[in-house]
Amino acid sequence: MTYDGILSHLKTKNINISLYDSVSSTNTLLKEMAVNGEKDGKVVVALSQTAGRGRYDRKFYSDKGGIYLSVLFRPDTKGFDTTLLTSAAAVAVSDAIEKTSDKTTQIKWVNDILINNKKVCGILCEGGFTGNNGFVIVGIGINAYTDKNGLNNEIKDIATTVFDTPCPQLSEKLCASVVDNLFYQYQNLEKREFLNTYRKKSVVLGKTVTVIPKNASTSVAKVLEIDDNCRLLLEFENGEKRYLSTGEISIKI
Ligand code: BTN
Repeated sequence: MTYDGILSHLKTKNINISLYDSVSSTNTLLKEMAVNGEKDGKVVVALSQTAGRGRYDRKFYSDKGGIYLSVLFRPDTKGFDTTLLTSAAAVAVSDAIEKTSDKTTQIKWVNDILINNKKVCGILCEGGFTGNNGFVIVGIGINAYTDKNGLNNEIKDIATTVFDTPCPQLSEKLCASVVDNLFYQYQNLEKREFLNTYRKKSVVLGKTVTVIPKNASTSVAKVLEIDDNCRLLLEFENGEKRYLSTGEISIKI
């Protein structure tokens, strides 16, 4: 992927993008930039990361061939809903993958993108403050393709790639499409247009799942609904119904 290649596909005007060969983590780098006053809408893209991070402080494998990007948003509303943005970001990536490849995607609540039930993209939203003003960083890691060595051994059974062969030009198109879609979703977040697609692509809606809280024992529940704030309405085996928000739990289908 090259800077000019990404820009040639980008439709959104005046986006400030930096492309790096390798960084520790695009989220960490952009967070530092944000604290030092970087403006709303800054995009950082890297071809590889040495310390890519996932949710719950998990390592995110970030070898060459993937697309690792972070976008800085400075929402002007106090009660900005990060869960909504995270879910909208999932739809942004999912649409971009389907537009750029012949693959069909699914979304696993909250924000894993799957192809044939294997993970192809993870999203990590992080918040912070510059003085009194809050900011959000949306970090997106996509397994676009791998070289002949394939995906890392630790993830090869649970992860997959968008493209079957190395194709940097398609990755540039995919990267630009993700950025375009994400800006659109951010600017139209209140309209919640993405919810239809989010529900349609959900692999958990209507399914029985194992709920895995951070510090408690697991339980089994049926997913009855994804509400307008992207919370899951769960019905547990004892008949209890409860809404769950992002961050509280992970689930296994
Ligand atoms: C997850 O699957 O748990 C989320 C993974 C998020 C990975 C992306 S890659 C770009 C950005 N920089 C990071 O260190 N993490 C996010």
